[in-house]
Amino acid sequence: MAADPGARCIASDNGVAAVATAVAAMSAGAAPVDAAVAGVNLNELDPEDNSVGYGGLPNEDGVVELDAAVMDGPTHRAGAVASIRNIKTPSRVALQVMRRSDHVLLVGEGALRFARAHGFVEESLLTEKSRKLWLYWKETLSATDDWFPPTDDEIARDPVLKRRPTGTIHLSARNAAGDFGCTTTTSGLAFKIPGRVGDSPLIGDGLYLDNAVGSAGGTGRGEASILACGAFAVVERMRAGRSPLDACLDILSRVVDQSRKNGNADGNGRPTFNLSLYALAKDGSYGSASLLAGCKFAVADATGTRLETGGHLFEATAR
Ligand code: GLY
Repeated sequence: MAADPGARCIASDNGVAAVATAVAAMSAGAAPVDAAVAGVNLNELDPEDNSVGYGGLPNEDGVVELDAAVMDGPTHRAGAVASIRNIKTPSRVALQVMRRSDHVLLVGEGALRFARAHGFVEESLLTEKSRKLWLYWKETLSATDDWFPPTDDEIARDPVLKRRPTGTIHLSARNAAGDFGCTTTTSGLAFKIPGRVGDSPLIGDGLYLDNAVGSAGGTGRGEASILACGAFAVVERMRAGRSPLDACLDILSRVVDQSRKNGNADGNGRPTFNLSLYALAKDGSYGSASLLAGCKFAVADATGTRLETGGHLFEATAR
């Protein structure tokens, strides 16, 4: 086994600042799960990250609904909230579900009432930009309804309108003692049907850890990760001796097979979506892979903070 790398975090590519924050928090004595949440709070509170927390793109009714989960290695406990409204930091509510309730997952109104009981402040999560993006999406859905888009508006050129992001941030943290914590938080699929829940708040799908093995998570098309039990499957591949990168690639290959059965592959057998998986092992080794080439992931440890390129199964340009 390689020399112990000390504290190390990995995250999706929107997590460069988050992994740096999480490693610093662990160095100051925070538990990995608290450090992970401190990291992703930066994204949740950032109005420019339109896939997470405040500023996340809303559902088809124009209402932002957030999903988040946390998992703690030493206790093998977890907490999660789904379809929660009006709370900017759902990962913090998930921490309270884990520590201050006998449950793992709270949804919708129940999750909001629990958050209120714990002193979370209700705020509008819709920024002016996310409202305009939603309105433009709604106005261009049909040429036969009564909603007209603006004739010339720069919002029409926003790439978000072409690909309905599933955004999300996942962060896995390992401290110098080899203990793990992780979190995944998201506003989910843009313009989703109200109540739709993706993989992010589901333990075993958007995140999973086993303190004896490692931690994993995913971003991208949540439905595909749910159908593969993505994060759990990655951890189990590491338990069987696969490297973090190979564990991610193994499960993505399984996702490809599943997409060919469930109608989510094109005529060439390529999935019509992207999914990225992230894995951090007990010995500190790490890896990430995506269905499509070109995806990066964030890493922070004693040698610094960086974006690295993950593995892939398909060239992105060949679609
Ligand atoms: N992976 C995030 C979602 O599908 O909601």
